[in-house]
Amino acid sequence: MALLKDLEWRYATKKYDPNKKVSQEDVDKIVEAARLAPTSSGMQQFRVFVISNQEIKDKLVAISNGQQIVSDASHVLVFAAWNKYTEERIDSIFKLTTKERGLPADRFVDYTNRLKAVYLKQTPEENFAHTARQAYIGFGLSIAQAAELKIDATPMEGFNSEQLDKLLDLDSKGLKSVLMLPIGYRDEEGDWLLPMKKVRNPKEEFAVEI
Ligand SMILES: Cc1cc2nc3c(=O)[nH]c(=O)nc-3n(C[C@H](O)[C@H](O)[C@H](O)COP(=O)(O)O)c2cc1C
Repeated sequence: MALLKDLEWRYATKKYDPNKKVSQEDVDKIVEAARLAPTSSGMQQFRVFVISNQEIKDKLVAISNGQQIVSDASHVLVFAAWNKYTEERIDSIFKLTTKERGLPADRFVDYTNRLKAVYLKQTPEENFAHTARQAYIGFGLSIAQAAELKIDATPMEGFNSEQLDKLLDLDSKGLKSVLMLPIGYRDEEGDWLLPMKKVRNPKEEFAVEI
């Protein structure tokens, strides 16, 4: 019930108070929610970049179709996913799981071979379509965690991902940007969306009971 209240409270904030900053402790919690997200085969195919540097946030405005949100927000989280699957990437998380759980070294060999047979024969574009979907799961949980902390957040796809990749040098890390999540505190007077009713399709239309 508390979660639903938080989700009703939140909205895609359009104007932030540039003078109010989110504490490091709260930023960490919002990132942690993404780290704890479930992902396909548990591979955590995405990373989160936490931008508080004002110069970089200012540069994000031009990349984001002039949306001032990214400059005024306290922090901007960038969710970036693997640009493709590789043998090393698939092996890496299962090596960690094997070690952390004290399992026999070959415990996941059959399973990872099956994953490799599927993903390594796909194109990088097909791979990225899959890895990016995992980023959305973490993104959703970060939004919910922010709301629980009464921190505003704006889900954002409205930016030039190629330019953002360049700015953050994501290619060298084998990543591509998927989403941005500015977080901070709303400008109570200046945000046109704040007084507006939240609109969703009626429950009867949205959920189909079979
Ligand atoms: C994936 C995604 C991308 C979005 N991109 C933008 C964006 O670039 N700029 C923006 O102002 N809002 C953006 N939004 C916000 C949506 O318009 C908003 O979530 C939706 O209208 C529902 O309203 P609410 O979030 O206030 O409840 C995005 C939302 C999602 C989930």
